[in-house]
Amino acid sequence: MKTPETDLIDAARRAREQAHAPYSGFRVGAALLDESGRVHVGCNVENAAFPAGTCAETGAISAMVAAGGKRIVAIAAVGGRQALESCTPCGGCRQRILEFADEATRIVVLDDDAEPLSYSMAELLPASFRFPGR
Ligand code: THU
Repeated sequence: MKTPETDLIDAARRAREQAHAPYSGFRVGAALLDESGRVHVGCNVENAAFPAGTCAETGAISAMVAAGGKRIVAIAAVGGRQALESCTPCGGCRQRILEFADEATRIVVLDDDAEPLSYSMAELLPASFRFPGR
């Protein structure tokens, strides 16, 4: 059955095709659903000065914010060198997702058999930092 999560994974797969990953060869695509039902995508963009590279999730979040999106309902990420491998968001991206997440936000990745796997923010980033008063 086609679910919204399957659609997001498909969008992430398409974004991955644009990844710029000549150094790691690990191509990542991300797609997120915002509170208005819009989908925003990103891919990893590596750089010769390695720390300057950006993750796919970061790109998708930037696209959402620039388009006026406020909340992440769900975000999917897929990556791998050839075939897709299990690819959960890195630590920095977990914190970036948290900024626009709530208890209902789903983080969707593929397991080792390329089946959709869905996590909550609390599962991926327990005891997380939040700015006091926000
Ligand atoms: N990468 C992402 O884009 N998202 C993740 O969640 C994990 C890692 C990218 C960064 C780098 O370009 C490549 O994958 C290998 O780490």
